[in-house]
Amino acid sequence: MGVYLVTGAEKGIGRALALNLHERGESVIAVCLNDSDELRQMGLQVEPNIDVTRSAPLRALAERLGAAGTKIDVLISNAGIFRVVDTLGEIDYEEMRAHFEINALGHLRVTEALMECLSENAKVGLITSRFGSLGENSSGRCYAYRVSKAAANMVGINLWHDLKKRGQTVVMLHPGMVATDMSAGSTGDFIQPEEAAAGLVRQLDAAKLEDQPEFRHANDQLLPW
Ligand SMILES: NC(=O)c1ccc[n+]([C@@H]2O[C@H](COP(=O)([O-])OP(=O)(O)OC[C@H]3O[C@@H](n4cnc5c(N)ncnc54)[C@H](OP(=O)(O)O)[C@@H]3O)[C@@H](O)[C@H]2O)c1
Repeated sequence: MGVYLVTGAEKGIGRALALNLHERGESVIAVCLNDSDELRQMGLQVEPNIDVTRSAPLRALAERLGAAGTKIDVLISNAGIFRVVDTLGEIDYEEMRAHFEINALGHLRVTEALMECLSENAKVGLITSRFGSLGENSSGRCYAYRVSKAAANMVGINLWHDLKKRGQTVVMLHPGMVATDMSAGSTGDFIQPEEAAAGLVRQLDAAKLEDQPEFRHANDQLLPW
């Protein structure tokens, strides 16, 4: 059994990931922007008030984990936002920056702050999105989200190169179209967070240190960058 850290753990896919892993007996550190009494009462270690756009709380978390001798076997950087369906002529550059700060730089900030807490052979899973695929963008729009998620994949490949030297690996993951607050109001065939989490956990279990950087759907499909 291992130590898993999940960001954005208080709801949606992050919560489902934390519960999936807890239920199979892993030790789960649930990192929350706010807090989760629900997860705490279920026996998970909850780390509240951690905004992935701020380095100080992440560094403080790293210090707490270091002092407790905790090593993370799998770091799942999941926190993200999708707040605007922006179209040309109506781009909100403040929102664009906010998406970039959370969805792209968030993964980098979290991994950089916690890298000394990673165990030997640790895995890092970045929850990006198929919306960030350059090869699959057939419908345009959603500039802020798409651009930030494409950048997230590049962050992941760069991290892969750096962490490989330390014997660790990184995989970029798309959860599918999932019924969460993020997708509320959208139409389509959405799966439940529990199904997405189960698929993401399968991908993380299967990821190997010797793999090349990969962008995978929770359903195992290899996605184009
Ligand atoms: N749902 C989908 O169909 C879908 C598809 C592709 C990719 N994804 C990706 O999957 C991940 C999880 O999405 P979801 O659908 O579960 O969305 P969600 O239900 O909106 O959950 C997002 C989580 O991220 C947290 N968060 C937001 N901003 C944060 C910040 N600055 N610092 C720390 N935590 C922050 C949220 O905290 P609060 O609740 O406190 O705001 C929440 O816990 C995201 O990266 C998303 O882009 C989702």
